[in-house]
Amino acid sequence: MIQVDISNVWGPISLPDLLGIEKEVFEAHRTLAEGTGEGAEYRGWLDLPTRGPSPEITRIQKAAEKIRAESDVCVVVGIGGSYLGSRAAIELLQGPNRNIGRAKGDPQIFFAGNSLSTRHWNELTGLLEGKDFDLIVISKSGTTTEPAIAFRGLRWMLERRYGTDGAGSRIYAITDPCSGALRQMATEKGWESFVIPPAAGGRFSVLTAVGLLPMAVAGIDIMQVLCGAMDAKESYDMYSFENPVWLYAAVRNLMYRKGKTIELFESFEPGFRAFGLWWQQLFGESEGKDGKGLFPATAELTADLHSLGQLIQQGQRNLFETMVRFDAPDKKMTIMGDVQNLDGLNYLEGKTLDFVDEQAYLGTVAAHCDGGVPVITMDCGELTARTVGELFYFLELSCGISAYILGVNPFNQPGVELYKRNMFELLGKPGYEIKN
Ligand code: PA5
Repeated sequence: MIQVDISNVWGPISLPDLLGIEKEVFEAHRTLAEGTGEGAEYRGWLDLPTRGPSPEITRIQKAAEKIRAESDVCVVVGIGGSYLGSRAAIELLQGPNRNIGRAKGDPQIFFAGNSLSTRHWNELTGLLEGKDFDLIVISKSGTTTEPAIAFRGLRWMLERRYGTDGAGSRIYAITDPCSGALRQMATEKGWESFVIPPAAGGRFSVLTAVGLLPMAVAGIDIMQVLCGAMDAKESYDMYSFENPVWLYAAVRNLMYRKGKTIELFESFEPGFRAFGLWWQQLFGESEGKDGKGLFPATAELTADLHSLGQLIQQGQRNLFETMVRFDAPDKKMTIMGDVQNLDGLNYLEGKTLDFVDEQAYLGTVAAHCDGGVPVITMDCGELTARTVGELFYFLELSCGISAYILGVNPFNQPGVELYKRNMFELLGKPGYEIKN
């Protein structure tokens, strides 16, 4: 079970504050579980965890085996909720440099269609030269501009290299079961396809094929991810402050009410950066509406202590931090002695790197608390595929409850459409002409 330690939050909030919000947390949890709140039709993600493989999961595993065997590179095309979850899991479990040295049998994984950058496109197409590759295209609507443009370009590359039929056998579409442009294309072209359940919005879709197929291609045991999520579903179905989900949802709302309107979500693992981006979308898009919402910021420690540390310690007092911790790995790095000791490190001789990391964590928490920045610690235990599944579900559940406490619909994103309308007008998209 993930442990949420709130011993470093007192000051801006008090125990009576926590006890005072208990009824709201209870109501929010019940609203989510019973489907009596706004957006209730998008709670399908609550029931995605499973302990046994469904036919869809077996197909995902088979498709992943085929991609792993035939390709040097798998390109995952998607944006927002359609790619952040798989990237989060892959980088957390396998490291940000996992692609180096990989090829057929255990392919590299690149993400595309998440920007409109020509430089990024040129880099990607350069990396694909001379390599066998497959495409996983993920879009619920099928018409999101960034992935649609990238998919069109990559599809043509595939067709030029392998012919129409050969290309078709290397395309995997993940989309709505019935409607949308991508579903229509997949059906007409006969591509293998998987389903994004209509009841699971993009940012809540990581435990569907959206997250699971790229993870399986990376060699992650997706049944372990799903079992971890199932552990979470069972463990966190608890209506009291013994539930760490309650503690997290309650404390972040109390912080917000006390003017701590920025949450810095952090870990001491460099591989956690992408996970932070997934969390950022989950909470930002779910809560940031109706003039409300915590700003979800992320940082990597200790690296960012050397860039953001000054601001955290002494800047505007509108921050609190959530630090996500994992057990240190079994394989240790021990600091050696040096006869000259010019770097002055001999006092650490024989100590392990994770011992130093632990002291850095403790020292940082103490300093930030002294500086008026409260810290929530989430202790996740061993870093495994199962833990990652548990963490995904833990945070999704926390998000649903937290948003209902805040008084917003967690499952819509009306504001995202406005920039698209302007862009489509400027691009002259049919149906979006500028009216004089
Ligand atoms: O959470 C969301 O709804 C968004 O981030 C979408 O996932 C994102 O905009 C991509 O949309 P689509 O899957 O329709 O291409």
